[in-house]
This record gives sequence, structure tokens and C-alpha cells, in this order.
Amino acid sequence: MKSRTRVNHPPAVRLPDDNRPLVAPIYQSVKFTFDDVEQSQLQSRGERDGFQYSRVSNPTLRQLELTLAELQGREACLLTASGIAGVSVALLSLCRQGDHVVLFAESYQPSRTVVRRLLARYGVRHTVLSIDDMDAFESVVSSTPTRVVLFESPTNPVLKVADISRITAAARKHGALTLLDNTFAGFHNHGQFDIDIFVHSLTKYASGHGDVMGGAVIASKAIIDSMKSDAIVIGATLDPHTAFMIQRGLKTYFLRYERACANAAVIAKFLEGHPAVARVSYPGLESHPQRALAVAQTHDFGTIVTFELRDGAVDPAVFSKALKLFAISASLGSTESLIQPGQLMLPRDLNPQERTWAAVANTTMRLSIGIEDADDLIEDLRTALGG
Ligand SMILES: Cc1ncc(COP(=O)(O)O)c(C=O)c1O
Repeated sequence: MKSRTRVNHPPAVRLPDDNRPLVAPIYQSVKFTFDDVEQSQLQSRGERDGFQYSRVSNPTLRQLELTLAELQGREACLLTASGIAGVSVALLSLCRQGDHVVLFAESYQPSRTVVRRLLARYGVRHTVLSIDDMDAFESVVSSTPTRVVLFESPTNPVLKVADISRITAAARKHGALTLLDNTFAGFHNHGQFDIDIFVHSLTKYASGHGDVMGGAVIASKAIIDSMKSDAIVIGATLDPHTAFMIQRGLKTYFLRYERACANAAVIAKFLEGHPAVARVSYPGLESHPQRALAVAQTHDFGTIVTFELRDGAVDPAVFSKALKLFAISASLGSTESLIQPGQLMLPRDLNPQERTWAAVANTTMRLSIGIEDADDLIEDLRTALGG
């Protein structure tokens, strides 16, 4: 073989059957080959195992899909290039022209945009409600045939806790599918509920280090199978290297999440006792209006702490700038602590009534607590709050 050919056909390295890598290798290959056309066709028709093209399936992605489906307690998983791509793929696949979607003002703003701008363009109607008003929710789903109920718990950014049993019971009774963005609570929470579809941003706790993006849709095999052909042509596939990074990040998922939750609990308590703080929203605090619901629904109270600066006590911009350990940054679920000031999260897409439900103001501060030493984080907050 001449050199120009050899560099394109490098020698194959085969491992003996009893000699396996401890960590699965990255299948960083777009294409997979077969010895003949017939085998390729059989695989395309699903009549034999194997892989053809990584936008459709890939062994590195398959390992992550299996892991995440099991963690969330469902049969199947579909990976996407980001969390919002997961929301988009799920909704685009589930909804038809004329369908109706229920969503909540207390939610991640880009998810609302998927429904209110993208789906609306194709004739999908929606109703925006407050996650606090379950009577209104039951009244809407009982009177308006609804295809999907999209919700979060705890909600981004003000950490209201959704009454999941009430949502799923009403949705099931009236034939609506429930789609829970479970990013904040994590894979180890909410699996026991009658939820049809979970979405997660893998950019957060799954990868955990703020260096890759990804998303997952997790549901029964029937639902994931029904979404697959749409997902393949939407094409927002995860790259194998990214899937590998997320699989690696998952090894420390529980350690990171538990440590960050423990830090969040003491930080929430510290903030609650500080005179420059008007109000703290953390589901683990006795003062949280839905603490009992949180205790009943989740194993822990999460790693996000949202609070309101007392009017006039400290300027919000001065406060966030004064922090040394909390970086001003979007996103959450990293090993390092982050702050997202209210000014960067104002729900400009909502009408005045919906804004009161969303409850985000310039004085609102969302902390994503990392795994640093809690004493250092508290000291940083204390200094920025004026001592
Ligand atoms: C609740 C929630 N859902 C979805 C997303 C979107 O995730 P991604 O940035 O991976 O698209 C985010 C991102 O912050 C989020 O907070």
C-alpha cells in the first residue's frame, strides 16, 4: 500500500476478546461500514444490530442514552445538541397544527419562545398560566383539548415547586401529555410520578464542568420511537466526543449534586438571616411556601438559591460586581458558583399579569451553588452584601 493510501486506510488494531478498555472508547466516526449491501439494508430496516450514520445513532451516544434513561427511570432516551434542542425536538414532534399547549409563566424563557413563537408559526395554540394556580390549570385542561403540558419544578429562576401529582392527574384525565423540564431537580428526582416525557439540559449537572452542551428527552420506548424520525431530520444531534464528556461527567454527578445541595442549604440559611436580603426562595427553607410539597416530591432541595435584595440596602449591580467567587454568568450546575442577576433574566416576553407570576425583578439574584467550601462562598456573599 502506498503512503497516500495508507494514511487513509490506517492499520486496524483489534483487542483480544478477554482484553477490554475500562472506559468505553469514543466512537468518533460519522460512518459505520458493513461488508455488503444486504447487511447495510437489513440494519437500515432495523432487522439487525449495528450503526450506519452518527446523526441517526452512534455507540457512544447509545451508552449515554441507556445510562440516562435508567437514571430517570424510563425506557428510552434521545440525545440532542443542547437542552433547548431537546425541548424543541419534543414539542415539534408531539404537536400538530391546531393543537393546544399549556405552559407556565414561571419557566425558562427560551422554552416559552419555542411554544409562543416557533410552534405558533405552525398553528399551535397555547395558554400561559401560573404554576401557583392549579384551579386555573384544571379548568383549562378540562375545557380545552390539550396536547402537551410543559412545566418545570422547581421553576427557573424563582424556585416555585409544581404540584406534580395534580398536574399529571388532570393531564391524564383529559388526554394531555406531560412534559417536565427536569433540569433543576436532576435525573434522580421525579421518576416516580406519572410523567410522560422528561427533558434535561445536559449542559448543567450531567456534564457538570461547564465545558460542553447537550440535551436529553427521556420517555417510554414508544414515545421516543415516535420522535426519532423527526429528530433525525431536525439534526440537532449530539457529537460523540461531547457524549463521552457527559458520560465522564456523570461519574461524579451524585457527588457534585449532593455537595452543591449541602452548600445551597447553608447559604440559603445565611442569606435568610442577612438584613440586606428581603426574601430567600429555597425549597428546603422552612419559610418556603411549598416546603412540604418539596419534601414529599424530591430527595433533596436542589443547588439553586434565589433571593431578593432589600430595596435600597445594596445596589444590585454593585452587589454582583463585588462578588469574587460567584461569576456573573448564565447557566448553572457547574462545579464553580455562579450568579445570574435579575437584570439579565427579566421576562420581557410576558404581559404584566404574567410578569407578576414570574416574579423576577432587578433585585432578584439567582445563585447556582458549586462545590467549593461553603465558608468561602458565605464570606464572599457577606462582603458583597456590605458585611
Ligand atoms: C430549566 C432549563 N431548561 C433548559 C435549558 C436550556 O439548556 P441549554 O442551555 O443546554 O440549551 C436551561 C438553560 O439554562 C434551563 O435552565
